[in-house]
Amino acid sequence: MRELEKCLAQSISEDSFIKKICAPLISGGKRLRPLLFFLCSGKAAPVPLATALELIHTASLVHDDILDCAKKRRGVATINATYGAQIAVLVGDYLFAKAFQLVAEGNYGSKVSEILSRLVKNLCIGEIMQDRALFAVPTLSEYYTRINLKTAFFLSTCCRLGAIVAESDEDETENLAAYGENLGLAFQIVDDLLDFFGEENLTGKILGGDLKSGVITLPVIRALSQSRDAETLKKIIAQGSVSGEDVQTTIKIISATDAAAYCKTRAEAHIDCALINLPDCPARFALEQIASFVINRRR
Ligand code: IPE
Ligand code: IPE
Ligand code: MG
Ligand code: MG
Repeated sequence: MRELEKCLAQSISEDSFIKKICAPLISGGKRLRPLLFFLCSGKAAPVPLATALELIHTASLVHDDILDCAKKRRGVATINATYGAQIAVLVGDYLFAKAFQLVAEGNYGSKVSEILSRLVKNLCIGEIMQDRALFAVPTLSEYYTRINLKTAFFLSTCCRLGAIVAESDEDETENLAAYGENLGLAFQIVDDLLDFFGEENLTGKILGGDLKSGVITLPVIRALSQSRDAETLKKIIAQGSVSGEDVQTTIKIISATDAAAYCKTRAEAHIDCALINLPDCPARFALEQIASFVINRRR
């Protein structure tokens, strides 16, 4: 992970403006994706490929924050908030390009490139689907399609790539990929819960951001089916614009239902699935620790 930090810092150092803009953002993340990659690859882990994964993730966050009009990320002002959407689009593109430069220089082969291309395509499709359905309530199945494409596939890919560079057999590779996928589903469900019930100084993001930007997530989906005040909640969503007061009302409505417990139970079920076929690899203990972090995380 120390090597990864060096490589990440280097990746934004070629241009002084890019460095100035990206340094605070780059320094803040949990590094979950490269960590999964390292753990699943054992000793064979190439640092530039791990760095590319973190750069792709960071680029997607820069673009996601434009879509969501987010003001804070990783505890600092977003690039779109400080420099505007135009610059943020280009900075995101730069980070994507840098990631693919590292991949090209590393000569990891066409299979790795193909997997990474699919990863970015899925991220885009997930975000497009979400953006086309703002202020509309998705079905449970639509919600799952979305979180699969934008988050679970990414974590799964990190595990799969780790297994591939370690030349693991097919069973182990698929089991690690399945671990990543279920971990990712749990991760996004917990993220959607933290958007209402987290602490801003820990998540590094503004509370209620999903609802404000029109993204309807599992806590709201569940509350709509359980609450006596479902009509109030429906009206808030149908307005097409959500105030701070609306967020507070929504939090109260969600809190009066079983929605938080329901989300937690679902996330836990995914964690159980993640662990069920976890191979008896040297990283097993660490992967179990990550699974429990994902359920209990506040950041
Ligand atoms: C944020 O991911 C985007 C989601 C998938 C919810 P992380 O919570 O892993 O972000 P960082 O890297 O720690 O900032
Ligand atoms: C996840 O979506 C971000 C990406 C997959 C790019 P969210 O919009 O839910 O993530 P946060 O809450 O902004 O981190
Ligand atoms: Mg967002
Ligand atoms: Mg979110």
